Amino acid sequence: MSGPVRRRARLRALAKINLDLRVLGKRPDGFHELRTIFQTISLADTIDIAFTPGGKTAIEVEDNLGIPDNLAARAARLVLAAMRIAGRVEMRIDKRIPMGAGLGGGSSDAAAVLLALPVLAGREVDLPELCAMAEQLGSDVPFFLLGGRAVGIGRGSELFPLPDEPAPAGLLVVPGVHVSTPEAYRRLSARLTSESQQNKIFSFQSQTWRGGGRERACNDFEAVVFQQHSELAVLKKRLIGAGASVAMMTGSGSGVFALFRTREEAALALDSLGSLGKGKAYRISLVSRRRYRSLWWRALKEHTTEATWPPQSRYLR
Ligand code: C5P
Repeated sequence: MSGPVRRRARLRALAKINLDLRVLGKRPDGFHELRTIFQTISLADTIDIAFTPGGKTAIEVEDNLGIPDNLAARAARLVLAAMRIAGRVEMRIDKRIPMGAGLGGGSSDAAAVLLALPVLAGREVDLPELCAMAEQLGSDVPFFLLGGRAVGIGRGSELFPLPDEPAPAGLLVVPGVHVSTPEAYRRLSARLTSESQQNKIFSFQSQTWRGGGRERACNDFEAVVFQQHSELAVLKKRLIGAGASVAMMTGSGSGVFALFRTREEAALALDSLGSLGKGKAYRISLVSRRRYRSLWWRALKEHTTEATWPPQSRYLR
């Protein structure tokens, strides 16, 4: 007699940058109304995940940083409850995406679990239901169900795909500086006026009409975060001086990315940065939605039937 089947997969959970980010005002629910353009990039965590059906749920997460209350574990619990099944989930996360840098690493890990577990468990979860669970886990989580380039409005969890643009070469610099997101929102909130809202909406809209990631892109958090950490403003200037077409902070910081027209320009700029002390620099490329989805199909191909989105399990009952 054979026991319950243990199914496993190796997932790549990509990081994101914000090609544009405007904060309009505080909402009655305490969150802020945003207009943003998300973009997946090549930097990624690796998640080895296994599911074994059973009478009781047990969720085990191991990661190289020892993160307390890992969002991936919460995602696993939530999606198992939604599927009304129990079992053992084993996860081993190799974290390469720096934390507290505005790169959405924890959110991406959580979304990866929401996409993969139904496939491994042989169940179907509707996309609207997945989106609701993702939003419950965090404002950035729903974007990682979509990938590529997308406009985020509301909390940043209401998403509309933008066409993928040819990927220029990029750099990402993560200085050894920690920025608290709630604190950055509080400081920014105190400066917001209703007059500036209207300008921001039109200015953001024109950025999206151009496809995002252009010279006039902006991140509202820079004004408050650069005030506290002037080294980030200096870094941005150096990247522009080194030939970047865009250099901007991502999310509420502290990561700063730069886009270049060619790989050679990006390589020269990287050399010109010299020593970053506690910081780290990465060569990155922008990952299109097409590529994002093909990475997913490849990761789950043993367990999926056809190229549908979200991925469907071949063990569907
Ligand atoms: O949704 P998430 O857990 O990522 O949000 C972290 C914190 O960032 C929230 O507690 C809130 O202070 C702030 N936030 C916000 N408005 C948003 C997203 C996040 O005020 N749209």
